[in-house]
Amino acid sequence: MSRAERKMDHIRFAMSTGQGRGAMFDDIRLVHQALPGIGFADTSIRPKTGDLNLKSPVFINAMTGGGGAGTLELNALLARAAKETGIAMAVGSQMAALKDPSERASYEIVRRENPDGFLIGNLGSEATAVQAQEAVEMIGADALQIHLNVIQELTMPEGDRDFKGALERIADIADCLDVPVIVKETGFGISREAALQLAGTGIAAVDVGGYGGTNFAAIENERRARKLAFFHEWGVPTAAAIVEARSVFPGTVLASGGIQSAQDIIKSFVLGADAAGLAGSFLKAAVDEGEGRLIEEIRWLEEDLRMMMTALGEKELAGLRNCPAVISGELHHYLEMRGYH
Ligand code: FNR
Repeated sequence: MSRAERKMDHIRFAMSTGQGRGAMFDDIRLVHQALPGIGFADTSIRPKTGDLNLKSPVFINAMTGGGGAGTLELNALLARAAKETGIAMAVGSQMAALKDPSERASYEIVRRENPDGFLIGNLGSEATAVQAQEAVEMIGADALQIHLNVIQELTMPEGDRDFKGALERIADIADCLDVPVIVKETGFGISREAALQLAGTGIAAVDVGGYGGTNFAAIENERRARKLAFFHEWGVPTAAAIVEARSVFPGTVLASGGIQSAQDIIKSFVLGADAAGLAGSFLKAAVDEGEGRLIEEIRWLEEDLRMMMTALGEKELAGLRNCPAVISGELHHYLEMRGYH
């Protein structure tokens, strides 16, 4: 199977395997404030993301590129939606285009459609600092994501089996690049132990990429004869991963993995995140309902965030971290067993 076919399979199976509620946001209850003491107009959703300098707390997370005409059109659509709404956008892994320059078009289109927007490049942790610099130059990236995808590789018959040296390469990339580096998981979550190792490098942000949304074990299992079903429910649920990463990583913490609504985003902020990325939910809006609907949904997300901030009496996103929340069920148990009280 060619790389282009694999990319189109990923899009198709990401849509058909869908998103559950395994990210555990439903175990969090926010505490309403009947006397919030502020108005809607007082709220600001400008996030505090340090060097990353995002203008909106919502961004389009890495999905496509390098898969022929289908992914070029999808990337162009996502780029126009990002431009129209002023949110940041990450492209899918650029390794395909580093290995085969004929694949560059589906990435370069993103910069052409959105010349002044905040664009994030993307490579896997097998990349070298030289490749990272090339990926940044390819799209004039404002930041670079390095993705960690052990489970996807293990479930791919043709995938990698050796994950040594990733931390050292990440540290090297962060030292060599002059744009901020984000390390992201791809749906299985960043644990406290992983976040602590990353805290020792010069990266600017951790994107927790938690369990509960797009599930690459399910997607890859659709493509294999002998299923590795034990990876279906594997991973740190997003809500827990935010708490774990926040407890040891001093830089920016990005929430992602199964985020489907503004309420999931607000809860991510209450748990300690600084901004939130959506991949599967935006893909579904774009493919099922088109560019106009995606733009509308991004605007609604931003408006809904401000609605809920008003009802919580919080003017700034960063202040949400001090808002009370009641945690129950499996998330409560999980956090208690991991030593968070
Ligand atoms: C992805 N994701 C991804 N991540 C990455 O770092 N590089 C990539 O090339 C891709 N490719 C990709 C393709 C498709 C079709 C999807 C749906 C997703 C992973 C993505 O950025 C994100 O981490 C996970 O999908 C979890 O977030 P959601 O989808 O639950 O919001």
